[in-house]
Amino acid sequence: MVPPQSIPIKSPSDVEHMRVAGRMAAEVLDMITEHVKPGVTTEELNTLCHEHITGKLGATPAPLNYRGFPKSICTSLNHQVCHGIPGDRVLKKTDIINIDVTVIKDGFHGDTSRMFHVGEPSVRGRRICDVALESLNRGIAMVKPGATLGDIGQAIQSYAEGERCSVVREYCGHGIGRSFHEEPQVLHYGAAGTGLKLAAGMTFTIEPMINQGKRHVKLLADDWTVVTKDRSLSAQWEHTVLVTETGYELLTLSPTEI
Ligand code: MF3
Ligand code: CO
Ligand code: CO
Repeated sequence: MVPPQSIPIKSPSDVEHMRVAGRMAAEVLDMITEHVKPGVTTEELNTLCHEHITGKLGATPAPLNYRGFPKSICTSLNHQVCHGIPGDRVLKKTDIINIDVTVIKDGFHGDTSRMFHVGEPSVRGRRICDVALESLNRGIAMVKPGATLGDIGQAIQSYAEGERCSVVREYCGHGIGRSFHEEPQVLHYGAAGTGLKLAAGMTFTIEPMINQGKRHVKLLADDWTVVTKDRSLSAQWEHTVLVTETGYELLTLSPTEI
């Protein structure tokens, strides 16, 4: 028995706050882009983002101290799937890295991540990043009132698997607003027509993690970093999305992307 839906619907004023927070998170990724190059450490990327968020933007980095997470952004390299902790690792050419930024502004969250190539990409590095981005875009394209979460999951899974990649099952997108993670869970696999029915005013992330090899993952001893079991490359992109009366609005586009 599926319980009746009780997913928060954002008011117009909530949505306006989420636009501000979302745009700020995207702006941080714009800012960091030129710094993602061989020789820089993930800790230095963390510091640059932290200073930008707390300084110029007057906002708060949501990951810092969230359930004990020790840094202000997540940096996930190569076979790391998500939740990588910035540290002394030095970036080198052909690395691929996901930078995941979540800011809190006036009580509302904006959550977005992108992949970056360090120096010239390898063929495999380029491919997994491209497949992961297209997976996100196919999921986003399904969003409109009356569609279901299963429509999103199915669009992502069928595309990614059709490209001989796999979809991570253990982590998912999530409702977002005053809370970092709220209902619903947004699975990146599934069957069309199943699951929660979308309605205008819902806000959630879509953030598929796509592996070049098998879908299985494991958690490292730091209790945060998730890696592919077979050490194959993994890539992820994330947007915070609003369901509108006619479709969707991406809340995590930067001023340049708008
Ligand atoms: N930003 C991640 C997400 O997309 C969550 C990171 S939680 C942290 O949901 F604690 F690792 F920062
Ligand atoms: Co998220
Ligand atoms: Co995120």
